[in-house]
Amino acid sequence: MGLDRRKFLKGTAAIGAATAAGFPQIWIKNSGLAYAAGEIKVGVLYSLTGTTAIIETSLNQATLMAIDEINAAGGINGAKVVPVVEDPASDPATFAQKARKLVVGDRCVSVFGSYTSASRKAVLPVFEKYNNLYWYPTLYEGRECSKNVIYTGAVPNQQQKDFVPWLVKNFGKKFYLIGSNYIYPKEENNVCKILLKELGGEVVGEEYVPLGHSEFSSVISKFKETRPDVIFSTVVGDSVVALHRQYKAAGLDPKKMPMASLTTSEEEIAAMGGEFAAGHFTSAPYFMSYDSPENHKFVEAFQKRWGKGKTTNFVSEPAYFQVHLFKQAVEKLGKKDLTPPAIREAAWGQEYKAPEGLVKIDPDNSHTYLWPKIGEAQTNGQFKIIEQSKEWVKPLPYWAYPGQVCTPEGLQQKKA
Ligand code: ACM
Repeated sequence: MGLDRRKFLKGTAAIGAATAAGFPQIWIKNSGLAYAAGEIKVGVLYSLTGTTAIIETSLNQATLMAIDEINAAGGINGAKVVPVVEDPASDPATFAQKARKLVVGDRCVSVFGSYTSASRKAVLPVFEKYNNLYWYPTLYEGRECSKNVIYTGAVPNQQQKDFVPWLVKNFGKKFYLIGSNYIYPKEENNVCKILLKELGGEVVGEEYVPLGHSEFSSVISKFKETRPDVIFSTVVGDSVVALHRQYKAAGLDPKKMPMASLTTSEEEIAAMGGEFAAGHFTSAPYFMSYDSPENHKFVEAFQKRWGKGKTTNFVSEPAYFQVHLFKQAVEKLGKKDLTPPAIREAAWGQEYKAPEGLVKIDPDNSHTYLWPKIGEAQTNGQFKIIEQSKEWVKPLPYWAYPGQVCTPEGLQQKKA
């Protein structure tokens, strides 16, 4: 059995070139092997325990459902998609550790994961070091530009940009900002303050509570003292339930002092009970009540798979559609070249008819064109959609910070 010298030389030359170009060895070995067993391994990294499990469980479920749909239709290029599921327990350090295991140990070609920006920031160095690909479905603060992430949730120009002026017009200019204590609420509130300044608004209070916080009496006393027109909430996880229940127990009235949130979805409302959320507002590109054939199909499939009465929400929807975008990207590559960088390039520009409308991964910045909406929570736990964008909105992750632009080459500083 002789070794074909020409093939061997070609192979080693390719490895040399790839290594010189900074392409990690793991992908040289894995490329082509990914299909060998008729399987494509992907990581599923959402918390099933801890304070954000309340929302992240639905992201895990939407992801697994999309993978099941793809496999039931024959897989991708004849190969089955195999999910490797990990529970990072709502803890950023555990997220980083599990991400490394999925990328280096399991050799997943992509990982779907995360709710909080703290957990995304924790896993980012792993994806950048190993040139792997993280598919992140959650609305976030923007101001990030990584080639190793496909961002499918809303950034501030797709969520706050029209929401804050709408709130000012309908309720008034005095805002109280309440958030959980980490990067996302602080950055979103900075954007809110920029918008309020333009509109002649005023911040009468700004406060951050620890993740998992459940005692809001002193916060509610401050609402009563300062009498804001709007309580702007970026509280996340279990705290959303506690805040709404205690607001109502304190006798506050959403007609006079509504909460306007970027993070309250059908999921937290199901946990607190619709009567505690009714009359408050959320801005997001997706609500479960949205009337489209794709959404009816999504909701029906979700309830069939995970239980009658289960809710879908503005994070589980992108968690679902991003798996279908991944499928389209891998399909486009054919059987060769199944590496995360190749998947990323094939993903840029992909479009998918999602439950919220047609979405597209923007090749300019690896974020997603989405359909902003404003909803008012109802006692039945659903949102009544009261405003919706007439066209999809291009993602601008540095919109609030003129002079900086995210490009495929990374962050660029515009010359003044
Ligand atoms: C978030 O932390 N991006 C909700």
